[in-house]
Amino acid sequence: MLFESMQTLPADAILGLIAEYKNDSRADKIDLGVGVYRNADGLTPVLDVVKTAEQRLVDTQDSKAYLGTAGSQSFNAAMQTLTFAGSADDARVTTLQAPGGSGSLRVAAGLLLRARKKPTVWVSEPTWNNHVPLLGGAGLELKPYPYYDTDRHVIDADAMLEALRSVPKGDIVLLHACCHNPSGLDPTEQQWRAISDVIIERELVPFIDMAYQGFSADLDTDAFVVRHLADKVAEMIVTNSCSKNFGLYRDRVGSLSIMAADSKARAVVASQASNVVRTIYSVPPDHGAAIVEMILNDASLTSKWQVELAQMRDRLREVRVLLHDALKNKASSRDFSHLTRATGMFCFLGINAEQIDTLKADYGIYMIGSSRINVAGVTTDNVEYLAESITAVL
Ligand code: LMR
Repeated sequence: MLFESMQTLPADAILGLIAEYKNDSRADKIDLGVGVYRNADGLTPVLDVVKTAEQRLVDTQDSKAYLGTAGSQSFNAAMQTLTFAGSADDARVTTLQAPGGSGSLRVAAGLLLRARKKPTVWVSEPTWNNHVPLLGGAGLELKPYPYYDTDRHVIDADAMLEALRSVPKGDIVLLHACCHNPSGLDPTEQQWRAISDVIIERELVPFIDMAYQGFSADLDTDAFVVRHLADKVAEMIVTNSCSKNFGLYRDRVGSLSIMAADSKARAVVASQASNVVRTIYSVPPDHGAAIVEMILNDASLTSKWQVELAQMRDRLREVRVLLHDALKNKASSRDFSHLTRATGMFCFLGINAEQIDTLKADYGIYMIGSSRINVAGVTTDNVEYLAESITAVL
């Protein structure tokens, strides 16, 4: 039989938790797993501004005919502005609509494989759980650079800089623009400048994953490293996701921007990227991108979106403090201050695999095996139970 030699694989470290949590019948269960925003009631509602745009779309859209491999040009222009805000030479940048951040990463990988025989991409240690399977599975060689000091819960910037200084010229370096997944800790502006200096000096190619723009400080600050590097390097890749900042998770909206050395190279890269898309999914899904396009091209909808984005960001900041204070009360000998230093959805709790398993089995508390937690799962109603349970397993 054709499929006889295959074996069932373990569930995905992050997405597998969605079903496990759903099937848990305990009333006090808490989901700190997959990176999805939740409000104070523990829900992930559709943003009001998305509902408005969606209604307008239903009323006005007159066709669902294919738009082409790069999707909507108007969406792409709006995403390019959101990403670079004029910091890059438009004549050198091409932007393509893609199915979420993952789709953009996959197209970028396809492009890199065409550009170079054996492209090496350096990734932070640790990095998003799916970076290695996704980019490595596409055929790229991945190598780690140090990033997070697990004992002190800080970025080890010195080790990172030292490692980057010995990366071979021309290699590609994957950076998280903001809200580093999984640690939640980003370089300061000063550290970004130092990292950028090494990138420029070593002629490395920055490949920046911006999946959480607007979830850390604000839309502009969160894009600092992208814009800082844009007029200093010859080539650069940026992947964007609209899953979190527009709450469009399942609609799969993202973009891929590639900055080439000049306008001639840009045209070549655009045609190659277009061809990569054709060989994978042919054309990107439209619905979510059409909503984003409508929001970003309408000043009133844009400001409504920014208000809702700030509300999500503020709540994440508040619940970090809430959990930190509850833990400080109950487990005063242990330092959890990194919870409040991190931004966005994630940070490490800093507990071991056995403690993570006990939290799931005995308390119905779900997080991924690295002890990364999504703080959006914390509410004023569950924080006491959560802090008590964590303390109990320490
Ligand atoms: C996460 O890291 O939890 C999110 O980015 C969702 C995913 O696809 O892994």
